[in-house]
Amino acid sequence: MIQLNPAEIKNQRRLVIVWSITFLIAFPLLIVLGLLMRLNQGEEIKLGIDTFYVLMTLHGLGMAGVLYSMAFAGLWYLISTRYVRLSVATGYVVYFLILAGVTGLAYATLLGKFGAGWYLLYPLPFKGTFWPTWSTGLSIISLTVLGVAWIIGLVHVVYALSKEFGGFTNLLGWQYLGKKEIKRELPPIVMITTISLIPGLIAFLAGAVFLIMNLMQYFEPTLAFDTLLLKNLVFFFGHTLVNITLYCCLGWVYALLPEFTGREWKTNKVLVYSWNATFFFILFAYFHHLYMDFVQPLPFQYAGQIASFSSAIPATAITMFGVITQLYHSKIKWGIVPLMFLLGVAGWAIGGFAAVVDSTIAVNAVLHNTLWVPAHFHTYMLGGVVLFILGFLFYLSHTKEEQEKDKTAKFGFWLFVIGTHSFIATFYSGGLRSIPRRYNDYSGIPIEATHSMGAFLARLALIGIILLLIGLMVMYISILIKLGKKNNTTVIQAAEA
Ligand code: HEM
Repeated sequence: MIQLNPAEIKNQRRLVIVWSITFLIAFPLLIVLGLLMRLNQGEEIKLGIDTFYVLMTLHGLGMAGVLYSMAFAGLWYLISTRYVRLSVATGYVVYFLILAGVTGLAYATLLGKFGAGWYLLYPLPFKGTFWPTWSTGLSIISLTVLGVAWIIGLVHVVYALSKEFGGFTNLLGWQYLGKKEIKRELPPIVMITTISLIPGLIAFLAGAVFLIMNLMQYFEPTLAFDTLLLKNLVFFFGHTLVNITLYCCLGWVYALLPEFTGREWKTNKVLVYSWNATFFFILFAYFHHLYMDFVQPLPFQYAGQIASFSSAIPATAITMFGVITQLYHSKIKWGIVPLMFLLGVAGWAIGGFAAVVDSTIAVNAVLHNTLWVPAHFHTYMLGGVVLFILGFLFYLSHTKEEQEKDKTAKFGFWLFVIGTHSFIATFYSGGLRSIPRRYNDYSGIPIEATHSMGAFLARLALIGIILLLIGLMVMYISILIKLGKKNNTTVIQAAEA
């Protein structure tokens, strides 16, 4: 633990509150876009094809960006109030750059009608478009600004940690593998942060190369780049971004859950081996997105299969086992924070399992580009990452006693969980019935049974979405009332103790 004075803690707390409020505003707005898409697929409203893809682009990019940014902001706060001083000014630079990037994207999509999806796959974003070229340019520039902000943030955190803990290999926990005595304990959150952010840096650089290529083509339309290379770059970026968002959140579960169970969760050899293996697998699992690309070299397809299966074992198994040993006979009081963490880990496991199923080449031949794909990533993002983030926000705003007693928030929480899994069940069910993903509606499908089942499931999803939105609003009231109050957080108590 570092010793911070109350003013330093206050500044970091103010920064994370700015982040939290931005998240609390952006998140339901992005859900409403999802609701509109499902209403259109259920043939309850008529958005028009163009508007559907505009909403899908903003929803996909917005959700992935906002969740990663909030996951990173939570890590920043915990690290800066416990382990190493981080510059608040740099934190605000990152925040305002991200805000600028998101504003640019919202303008390019909602007003410029940019609708190429987050992947801008060939022949998009330049050929066969229904939007003006300026909105393509603005989107590419806005995404570049986001990438720059994320890179500044993560380099600052990893550099500061590396200085504090005596070098990069120490951050990876390699000192635990030798026979020498450990001079300074490495908190698991520090190791997991490094193992999330370094692949993140590599992925953001790949994303930057992709964006620069697109920008060059924007300014010089006669240029043409290898489309398979572009697809590899963008899926490496997207897949890694989503993975590390989850891992950033897991970092704070390792740090915070022990405060509720009263048991230590320390770094040891097993944890180091498993998280270091994850570091490696994160980088290669993305190949499973390209199974259908027959021109992709065959060894990459095998690498995708092996890395996808392997990536599920070390970090997941070890974390699950860790959570169970934390909780078993621990006399924990089930306040909303540990509940969120437990159900979040469950969401991660269920979605992760569904992802591994889809990464099996033989299964992928059937499930590829069906609603099974949004099913699995909505499970670990909405049923995992979002619960971790909400758990963090309750931790930030409530004292331990308050979060235990807050019955209204718990009611909202259960509504949210039931709504989330009911909504996602309609995606799984659609996937198993070969309903394609990314269709604005299913009326063009010549098989009537598939068309009507797709539309029916989309209408059914509305019940879950409404339930989860009500649950979210109930929790919001509780968080917002407490967030404004001063000096009532467990974190301040812990840091001042
Ligand atoms: C209640 C909340 C949500 C609703 C109602 C919702 C709804 C939808 C719908 C209807 C689609 C289009 C599915 C298709 O036909 O392919 C979609 C796609 C997507 N959603 Fe969500 N979603 C929600 C939450 C989230 C969250 C938390 C994330 C976080 C990453 C997310 C990320 C995405 C992405 C990346 C896509 C794919 C976009 C694309 O293919 O370009 N969504 N969502």
